[in-house]
Amino acid sequence: MRLIIGCDHGATPLKDEIVKHLVAKGLEIEDAGTFGTTPVDYPDIAKKVCEKIQNKEKDLGILLCGTGIGISIAANKYIGIRASLCHNEYEAEMSKRHNDSNVLVLGGRVIGRDLALSIVDRYLLCDFEGGRHQARLDKIALIEKLQ
Ligand code: RB5
Repeated sequence: MRLIIGCDHGATPLKDEIVKHLVAKGLEIEDAGTFGTTPVDYPDIAKKVCEKIQNKEKDLGILLCGTGIGISIAANKYIGIRASLCHNEYEAEMSKRHNDSNVLVLGGRVIGRDLALSIVDRYLLCDFEGGRHQARLDKIALIEKLQ
């Protein structure tokens, strides 16, 4: 599984914790930044991560901003990106099983470290179920085509 993560300045500490956690589990993840507290614009970070998923350089992304809202709005503008802002493990699981989410979004100022790591673990564990859910995703893809 080829992973990439990115955040704005509102979530750098949580992003760093997630990277540390995944590396400790033996997973590789590209860190697209940001790396400090200097303000950056979350659409720029969404672009870095989403373009690598669009061009199939990466399989899954994790994006964070302060609330998770701005960066998920930006990410979902990219064709083929299904970014899911999750606050608990159930949302993370269902966003994979039913929505085939390819970007997990978290709010760095909204949830704590332990919950965030647990959400990430559940997200990475679950797979898309296909079937009737694929037909719904096909309808979303059609919306993208008509824009
Ligand atoms: C940055 O201050 C903040 O607006 C951003 O991280 C995010 O919460 C936007 O949705």
